[in-house]
Amino acid sequence: MAKTKTVWECSECGNRQTKWSGSCAMCKNWNTYVEETLFEGKFTLPSASSSSNKPVPIKEVVSKGFARLKSSMGEFDRLLGGGAVTGSLSLVGGSPGIGKSTLMLQVSSAYAKQGHTVLYICGEESAEQTSLRAERLGIRDEKLYLFNETSLSVIKSEIDALKPQVVIVDSVQIVYKQEIPSSPGSVLQVKEVAMEFMHIAKGCGITTFLIGHVTKSGEIAGPRVLEHIVDTVLDFEGDRHHGFRILRSSKNRFGSTDDVALFQMKETGLEEVPNPSQAFLEERMRKVPGSVIVSALEGTRPFLIEIQSLVSSSSYATPTRRSVGFDQNRLSLLLAVLEKRVGYRLYTSDVFVSVVGGMRLLEPALDLGVLLAIASSFSGKAIDSETIVLGEVGLGGEIRAVSRIESRLKEAMQMGFKRAVIPKRNLKGLSQELQGKLEIIGVSLVEDAIHGLIS
Ligand code: TYD
Ligand code: MG
Repeated sequence: MAKTKTVWECSECGNRQTKWSGSCAMCKNWNTYVEETLFEGKFTLPSASSSSNKPVPIKEVVSKGFARLKSSMGEFDRLLGGGAVTGSLSLVGGSPGIGKSTLMLQVSSAYAKQGHTVLYICGEESAEQTSLRAERLGIRDEKLYLFNETSLSVIKSEIDALKPQVVIVDSVQIVYKQEIPSSPGSVLQVKEVAMEFMHIAKGCGITTFLIGHVTKSGEIAGPRVLEHIVDTVLDFEGDRHHGFRILRSSKNRFGSTDDVALFQMKETGLEEVPNPSQAFLEERMRKVPGSVIVSALEGTRPFLIEIQSLVSSSSYATPTRRSVGFDQNRLSLLLAVLEKRVGYRLYTSDVFVSVVGGMRLLEPALDLGVLLAIASSFSGKAIDSETIVLGEVGLGGEIRAVSRIESRLKEAMQMGFKRAVIPKRNLKGLSQELQGKLEIIGVSLVEDAIHGLIS
């Protein structure tokens, strides 16, 4: 048997040492050392005659297509590229309390309703707790089995006995392999457990979903160890205090990435939101200074959303600048542009910016919308509620082109908006249909946009 040795490896630069330390001796990063097991001894390559595997010319490779499991949750299936591929391994990550267990229980029920046997391993909660949740969601499917177990070997023998088509592991951090000395949730355990589930998924053709908690820094179980192993990575995001949740596919071996699905957490579980723009604009007040509608893009999907700003006089020497859902650094940049290029005296004002609905938007294409919301609140003049605004703002006060303008404008048109203020550079090549239905105004400088819309 090969001898094993434990070393500590820096997850940033790969430096190895025999003892743990707080900061890496090579790259000087903190808290990056993770435990690794090395196998010592000589590796012998299998002899050539024992393998019948041969390289195949690419044009002779026959693609059989992938069999996919459909649930009745259209948005979930769409995100996976038209249903989960049979025998694939997916990772559903998200911070605690975001709704991962709720989503996967609903998905399990949807699979069970199609006649598939589903084994839901609820290691984190007892079977009673999970069944209580299921009751709340109105789930009572005969083919859905709950299994409160954390030992991998017991889980494996149960999978062998039940022969399910779908396995959900809630969560991968709580399952442990007895042979490994480190505790459940450690990088080594999580990696090994995920590898075992990959072999089960591929070997037996079982569609497997691993639920993984994301740590504060946004990583799944330490240094993103699982993302290399699995076929699909779905990230569940959103503000815990708001109803909206975004499910994003950041890796997909069987479909496109960069796509999102929107859900809303209700009393009776998660509901799909087929028309995000409508949901986001539902509660908006018209003719109020400080409110601007922008057309944001999540993945390939455009949706309209309101940006609000409030500018009030500050009672302190250092005024407050806060943003919710928008990058704080970009806010500072936009305020500097407003002061220097347009002459707004904001240094005695508190400025607040908020993206409605608990969404986090990091696109520069929304700069002009944020800037106009601030300018509108500062001057006390409302911006026409039938107008959408798009554009990236540069330090010189210039307005730069944005990506996928056509699909953003189409969404505005479908939602019944009448006017769009967009970068001049984006005017070229817009379709006749858009130009007929929307009054499109091209602007190249921040001053022009402010004069056109506010004063
Ligand atoms: P949960 O799925 O347990 O989150 P996670 O598994 O990601 O930790 O649920 C998160 C929250 O959702 C929980 O605080 C209660 C709430 N919730 C609802 O609002 N409606 C529901 O129908 C359910 C089941 C949960
Ligand atoms: Mg949970």
